Amino acid sequence: MKTIRIYNQLAEKGLARLPADRYTAGADLAPADAIMLRSYKLHDEVIEDSVLAVVRAGAGVNNIPIEAYAKRGIVVFNTPGANANAVKELVAAGLLLGSRDIFGAMNYVQTLGDVHDAAELNKLLEANKKRFAGSEIYGMTLGVVGLGAIGSMVANMALELGMKVVGYDPALSVEAAWRISSRVQKADSLQAVVDAADFLTLHIPANEHTTGLINADLLARTKPGARLLNFARDAVVDLAAVTAALDSGQLSAYITDFPHPDLLGRSNVLLLPHIGASTRQAEENCAVMAADQLVDYLDNGNILNSVNYPNTRMARNGGYRITFCNENIPKVLNSVLSVLADHDMNVIDMVNRSRGDFAYSIIDVENQPDKGVMSAIRGAEGVIRARLLPPAG
Ligand SMILES: NC(=O)c1ccc[n+]([C@@H]2O[C@H](COP(=O)([O-])OP(=O)(O)OC[C@H]3O[C@@H](n4cnc5c(N)ncnc54)[C@H](O)[C@@H]3O)[C@@H](O)[C@H]2O)c1
Repeated sequence: MKTIRIYNQLAEKGLARLPADRYTAGADLAPADAIMLRSYKLHDEVIEDSVLAVVRAGAGVNNIPIEAYAKRGIVVFNTPGANANAVKELVAAGLLLGSRDIFGAMNYVQTLGDVHDAAELNKLLEANKKRFAGSEIYGMTLGVVGLGAIGSMVANMALELGMKVVGYDPALSVEAAWRISSRVQKADSLQAVVDAADFLTLHIPANEHTTGLINADLLARTKPGARLLNFARDAVVDLAAVTAALDSGQLSAYITDFPHPDLLGRSNVLLLPHIGASTRQAEENCAVMAADQLVDYLDNGNILNSVNYPNTRMARNGGYRITFCNENIPKVLNSVLSVLADHDMNVIDMVNRSRGDFAYSIIDVENQPDKGVMSAIRGAEGVIRARLLPPAG
């Protein structure tokens, strides 16, 4: 039986993916084979040595000491893209709210609570509706900065809405490239996207390279009256530059999931309380993905979507499986293969990957390794942790 300690409430649909005959999951279970959580902070927590993996149902992992765990052979996973559709749909709302004063129009209608005569109400609405006229997004150009899980979905969606789409991503992943429609024009610089956009939408991570990326110089290049959507993070825009561009009319609207006191009370700003991923489906998707990745790691040693070890996968083929985490230094793999050779063990298949200071290997062998083999592997220089998995099924 494998024991999974749960720190936050996770969607039931995800927990149901843990095979009930072999897994037990719950709060306060110890010692645990793995941990599942959302935003619970593990930095000050003492984690027992039995823990092989920590899985974050969600994208951000700043609540987990991933480097320290890597040194202990604890593989940390997250669930990138599981909430992408939720954010994409909110961006669709942002585009529409930014092109027509839907919000102002709805608020206006609610101010007419004292009008009880339907004909009079209709007269007032007809007389005032011109105040809320806007423009359509059809035929407008959307500039998408960052074409990852969310940006690629936003780009394709905007095409469906009849927009022209120009995207920029200097490190486009192969998966995203496959997803993106060939009708999305690929720009070769951030400036080129900004120049072309009627609407500019940001889907980049906040890091040392992207902090303040959307600055005064870039905003001076936008088409006059362009709209900026930020459903990424507050740090990726220079807020003072954005408010100045709103004041001058260079930007006609700023629609964001990241309010700031300097943005409150402005008529050309639409603020949402960071609800991009707040849907039932996104929470379920995260929990399902988290559980599936964890089971595949514990049962098969496969790593998908780790943030501290390389993605490493090999189909099961009937043999016993040895996996090991190691420091990314020369000769570790050779040492392990020598142990197997010394014990006359036949290797069926193997895969070895590295990522930064750490590496991970999967080796399938024909016969069951005895305790001596595993302790010799564990004793090899650079090996952090080794596991032996029985044949699948
Ligand atoms: N509003 C919300 O609730 C919400 C929810 C989920 C994610 N997010 C934010 O959205 C961001 C994107 O999420 P994702 O799942 O698409 O991530 P992702 O990792 O799949 O995609 C990010 C993309 O940005 C690209 N990129 C990085 N730096 C860039 C730069 N300087 N210029 C252009 N492209 C650059 C990367 O190459 C990558 O393809 C997240 O980092 C997060 O901050 C917000």
